[in-house]
Amino acid sequence: MRRSLYCGLVTPEHVGDDLTLCGWVDRRRDHGGVIFIDLRDREGVVQVVFDPDNAAAFHLADGVRSEYVLWVRGKVRSRSTETINEAMATGQIELYAYDLEILNRAQTPPFQLDQYVNVGEEVRLKYRYMDLRRPEMQKNLKLRSDVTNSVRNFLIEEGFLDIETPVMTRATPEGARDYVIPSRIYQGQFFAMPQSPQLFKQLLMVAGCDRYFQIAKCFRDEDLRADRQPEFTQIDIEASFIDQEDILKLGEALISDIFRKHLSVELGEFPRMSYADAISKYGSDKPDLRIPLELVDLKDLLRDVQFKVFSGPANDPKSRVSALKIPGGAELSRKKIDEYTEFVAIYGARGLAWIKVNDIDTGVKGMQSPIIKFIGEQTTLAIMDRLNAENGDIVFFGADSHKIVSEALGALRCRIAADMKLYVTDWAPIWIVDFPMFEALEDGSLTPLHHPFTLPSCGLDELSHEPSKCLSEAYDIVINGYELGGGSIRIHDLKMQEVVFDILKIEKEEQREKFGFLLDALQFGAPPHGGIAIGLDRLMMLLIQKDSIRDVIAFPKTQSASCLMTDAPSHIDINQLSDLGIQVRRFSDQ
Ligand code: AMO
Ligand code: AMP
Repeated sequence: MRRSLYCGLVTPEHVGDDLTLCGWVDRRRDHGGVIFIDLRDREGVVQVVFDPDNAAAFHLADGVRSEYVLWVRGKVRSRSTETINEAMATGQIELYAYDLEILNRAQTPPFQLDQYVNVGEEVRLKYRYMDLRRPEMQKNLKLRSDVTNSVRNFLIEEGFLDIETPVMTRATPEGARDYVIPSRIYQGQFFAMPQSPQLFKQLLMVAGCDRYFQIAKCFRDEDLRADRQPEFTQIDIEASFIDQEDILKLGEALISDIFRKHLSVELGEFPRMSYADAISKYGSDKPDLRIPLELVDLKDLLRDVQFKVFSGPANDPKSRVSALKIPGGAELSRKKIDEYTEFVAIYGARGLAWIKVNDIDTGVKGMQSPIIKFIGEQTTLAIMDRLNAENGDIVFFGADSHKIVSEALGALRCRIAADMKLYVTDWAPIWIVDFPMFEALEDGSLTPLHHPFTLPSCGLDELSHEPSKCLSEAYDIVINGYELGGGSIRIHDLKMQEVVFDILKIEKEEQREKFGFLLDALQFGAPPHGGIAIGLDRLMMLLIQKDSIRDVIAFPKTQSASCLMTDAPSHIDINQLSDLGIQVRRFSDQ
């Protein structure tokens, strides 16, 4: 079955050549005695012409339907000027066929591959192998392969070793639930699938591997969103005898290299911003810096106003009162403002006060708002002064707990920028640094902001006395509002690791049980080390400029963590359960 080349790669240079092509029927048209078949393979589509002069082939071609698999032999010829199709890569030529074999037939496809936009995602995922035949999906898979190839070349060039770590392992604490695998031999015991190779990569540093990377599968049982999958891939990196600066430089060079090679985009030097500044200016630790809007704090101006909604939080150290000014926003309709009020409610905001600035020169008379009467003329003008408000602006206000105001106005900033197309650049990478070591939960207990192996920026004394004030050597890379990757310098000192576990209220016994192997390893000459993990799926999603990581994964799971194609997860045989020593209490039919 020799094939000369891919359908999509036939060019005018082949005119006069006899070629053999294989592929799927994209479209078949009967033009009064001549049959045209668009034959498609991974690289594209070419037009094949059958006429009655080649009776046997013509007769067969008459019977083919969409998605039949064909083998054709013919001669490449130029198309006449009127039939040249500029929209098609192979649009200047066609294959005049004299031989045809139908290699396989196909049922009517569940959806037309060229009208996919109207196809629901459920159908696409159920018949994923059909969905993947679409040129757009083929392109995404090819790009993913090219990118992983670049990543490997880049890191190998930098002296990193590609080392695999186990998928059947113990729980690794990245903050999500584990997927677990029951053991048949040790009944009642379970392996956990890794949420990341975190502990293994640290142990590889103790082992002296010095520079490790892996394109690693990670598994997390967490609430799914458009940019999260239960099973996803990280470009996982760890190195010894390095500091934060080395990892930031390496990560920046790697990401810049990918954008340059695969998108012809120069990202330039990535700015850096502290976690505290990011929350203060953008209400988020993954700020989208394509948007030229910032939150402005107003607590000091609102302490004495009679409007309790503002003065209450303004006098409470745990609260925040901030404004977000939107140039051009004075045109927003009442309906739109109501929609935004509902939107911020998702984040817990109990309202969304606003002031429209129509004519700043006439003072509050030139403004429109439900709250000026409560906060008074003087305060209103002082706020407008701080915001440098201009005609045409709308100012939104948030007053509540620090968390609610930051999250609500931070999300509103992104929502309005998307609605009003306020982006000033295509690409905005940024490093977020100086993360706090811990975050306080509602009950006052502390939890690590990254993971418990992150090196605190302070010494042991400070760490023990005021852990909540401690910063850490952790960093995230954010592009266009997506957290693309994160990492840290790790603790390599046993005492420090134990203190961190103590602060997290992990008892000695539990420390031994869960992380005994790491604590042991730290006693056998662990070098200073650190690393980063970049989400490959999110990187690909950014490169193809889509909002869903399902478009860059060959066989993704649904938003509810199932596979519609294979129908997994599924019940297992009662005998298999019994081998595992497992009795299922209640079967769900979902
Ligand atoms: P972290 O948990 O921040 O760090 O993960 C690193 C990156 O992995 C990607 N990611 C995901 N992508 C798709 N679906 C998910 N459910 C998902 N969860 C995470 C993100 C994220 O930035 N071991 C540490 C890294 C380190 O410290 O070196 C870790 O896993 O892009
Ligand atoms: P009210 O007096 O409750 O009707 O509120 C007057 C205005 O303040 C309305 O526009 C509300 O949406 C807004 N508002 C109420 N609570 C808050 C809050 N916590 N933060 C910001 N705006 C609020």
